[in-house]
Amino acid sequence: MFGTMRNNVGILEIGGVKTTSLVEQYGTPLYVMDLLLIEENILKYKLFFQSKHFKTNIIYASKAFLCKGICQIIEKYDINIDAVSDGELYSIKSSGIDMQRVHMHGNNKSETELEMCLDYGVKSIIIDNEEEIEKLSKNCQLKNKKIQVMLRLNIGIEAHTHEYIQTAKHSSKFGISILDNRIEEIIKKIIEDENLEFLGFHCHIGSQIFEINAFYEAIKIMVKFTKLVSEKLDIIIPEINLGGGFGVFYSVGDTPIDIEYLMTALIKCLEENLEKEQLKIEKISIEPGRSIVANAGTTLYRVGAKKKTFDDTNYIFVDGGMTDNIRPALYQAKYIALVANKMNDIKDELVSVAGKCCESSDVIVKGIKLQKTVVDDIVAICSTGAYGHSMASNYNKLRVPAVVFVKNGRSYLGIKRETYEELVKNDLPIDI
Ligand SMILES: Cc1ncc(COP(=O)(O)O)c(C=O)c1O
Repeated sequence: MFGTMRNNVGILEIGGVKTTSLVEQYGTPLYVMDLLLIEENILKYKLFFQSKHFKTNIIYASKAFLCKGICQIIEKYDINIDAVSDGELYSIKSSGIDMQRVHMHGNNKSETELEMCLDYGVKSIIIDNEEEIEKLSKNCQLKNKKIQVMLRLNIGIEAHTHEYIQTAKHSSKFGISILDNRIEEIIKKIIEDENLEFLGFHCHIGSQIFEINAFYEAIKIMVKFTKLVSEKLDIIIPEINLGGGFGVFYSVGDTPIDIEYLMTALIKCLEENLEKEQLKIEKISIEPGRSIVANAGTTLYRVGAKKKTFDDTNYIFVDGGMTDNIRPALYQAKYIALVANKMNDIKDELVSVAGKCCESSDVIVKGIKLQKTVVDDIVAICSTGAYGHSMASNYNKLRVPAVVFVKNGRSYLGIKRETYEELVKNDLPIDI
């Protein structure tokens, strides 16, 4: 259990609110976000990703989970936020936060997206490919605006969970390979463009990374490459952005490094590498997403039915599934489940928690020992705060669940449950 999750006389409590009260008030499925844990995580990043030698910048990766409430937290704690699409830009803008906090990503930014960036006044754009340079510059010219840009590099490291691979193939769809024989030309193109102000280089080596050496390696390569380019082109490069990907605990076998330790270690590694290369950098950014919100989220479902199959698999069927959490079906992600209204009972029933969608892969947790459940019990799936709601779909025309933030005994509805009307609001009869 994370953050403010407690067993309150047999009932799971989050943020000082009983989950049984939450489902009564807001229904199920329900995403519950532990506000205090989100705030604590942000404060840890702010506190431990600091150096005497350069400024630091925390950019929350909004793809992990985005709503107005999150934007309010970003503003309150004075950190920044990224976006990858027109929809994310629009959502952030509609929250009313200062658009100078926004950094725009994307490997295929449309004209509309680039225009929006300029009209909304985002802080910077991370250029992914060569076509984007001209497209952006042309838009700047038309609007008589300048924009700060970084260039996303593919540094040949791909890291996920326990493994990282250094590859000479550089085959990722993101960024430009540092081995590309045109890289110098591309950088020059940016530098020489009077509509663009070149800030430096960006990389993002993967997701759910537990292997600290992968980050060390990324730092080493980024610092070395930045030094090389600054000398070769005789320019000052003020910034490096190292992306996100810091791993979290979902289930047995996950071994995350705590934020305090990881950030302290990365700062040390950065300082050593900058010293070694005799490189002066003004600002270093990171882009944590999952590690800020994942453990803060819990999804509450109601048990609707149980089934023992012919081969003795015990299913608990809940009223959501792959529509509100695609991760198990998409990449066999593992989760911990709890029976929220029976926390004191003995866990003696081996079950699989399955959703209600018409897909055999719609199983949220496979083979877990839980308390004996009956219809109407509440099953909680832990650590669903990242890439849950943001990847939700309407498959089988299920409505996207509500999101409620909880803190100090109070709950705050952050996103309303989708209505039936909203499900069909864009449907039109066709003239046949
Ligand atoms: C460019 C970039 N930055 C940051 C992130 C956030 O990663 P995470 O949520 O694993 O921290 C991602 C995730 O895909 C990303 O693509």
